[in-house]
Amino acid sequence: MAATDLRTRVRRFYHHARTNWPWTLYQRIGINNLVTNMALWPEDGETGEPCRLERKDYQALLALDVMERFRKFPFVFDKVLEYAASMKMLRLTPDSVLLDAAGGFGEYTAAAKELCGLETVYCLDAVDLPDRGDGVRRLVGGVSNIPLPDESVDAISCHHSFEHFQGDGDKDFLAEVGRVLKPGGRAVIIPFFLCNRYAEIRNVLGRKPFDPKAKTVYDPFGTFPGWGPYERFARVYDARAFAERLMPAMDARITVSVHPVLFEGRPCPEMPANAHQPKLNGNLKAMMLVKSRSDERPVGQ
Ligand SMILES: C[S@@+](CC[C@H](N)C(=O)[O-])C[C@H]1O[C@@H](n2cnc3c(N)ncnc32)[C@H](O)[C@@H]1O
Repeated sequence: MAATDLRTRVRRFYHHARTNWPWTLYQRIGINNLVTNMALWPEDGETGEPCRLERKDYQALLALDVMERFRKFPFVFDKVLEYAASMKMLRLTPDSVLLDAAGGFGEYTAAAKELCGLETVYCLDAVDLPDRGDGVRRLVGGVSNIPLPDESVDAISCHHSFEHFQGDGDKDFLAEVGRVLKPGGRAVIIPFFLCNRYAEIRNVLGRKPFDPKAKTVYDPFGTFPGWGPYERFARVYDARAFAERLMPAMDARITVSVHPVLFEGRPCPEMPANAHQPKLNGNLKAMMLVKSRSDERPVGQ
């Protein structure tokens, strides 16, 4: 075996061990996100209409080849619910240009392209991940500087990533959404973590807080902040941080609302089954941004 092959294998093994073993161990002994679960809990206060999902919405997604890895779970898996909800809320039609921001391996973009018959789909991530060969255009870069022209996309999705945006990445992304969306376009950020405290959560020591106004939570068992190269960090908001940090970052033509997601009429996901997630994932919520068609600021904002 060539030395470079061996080095790649060792690197992959190390990455796998570092990312998966703690996750599996903490979950098995029931201590994953222990500190986070004690320090923070989800808040309600939704204003928008619920996004109502039925089992057929879930099953239509799960039937796709790209969703194969979720079929082994004997329960309704939270990520598939998130994908189904954003697809519904974005009202995708075959001529919609879709951008999935921080799209990871591109499972959502592949699914949306196939299920909604989309022609033009972009998957942006800070990490240069392999092209799946499915016709989705991969973009490598940060969400603070989306490499697409002004007013060029109809729909933007962002799944389980907004909480990981470090520094001012959350505010920058919202500003970029306002720039890149066409008038009348929609964006969905899901989950949106509305909590009792504005907090920054880490599972690694020795990093300075990004915002001194946030409560700092160090959770050595925290799987929520993740282990990826742009992770080990998660940020959650209270109503005040939403108003004072996020609202001013948005373009004047954006109307923002937060919507609960219901599965078969009930809040979701089922938390005892989705035990890999912190309790903050209970009562799944989505933030929706709609860009008005005129230059006038929407009434009431
Ligand atoms: C938990 S993964 C979620 C991936 C995907 N959206 C999904 O649902 O499977 C978070 C992703 O956010 C990406 N990410 C984090 N910060 C980013 C940033 N500032 N710009 C672009 N991507 C970022 C990471 O590289 C990672 O792929």
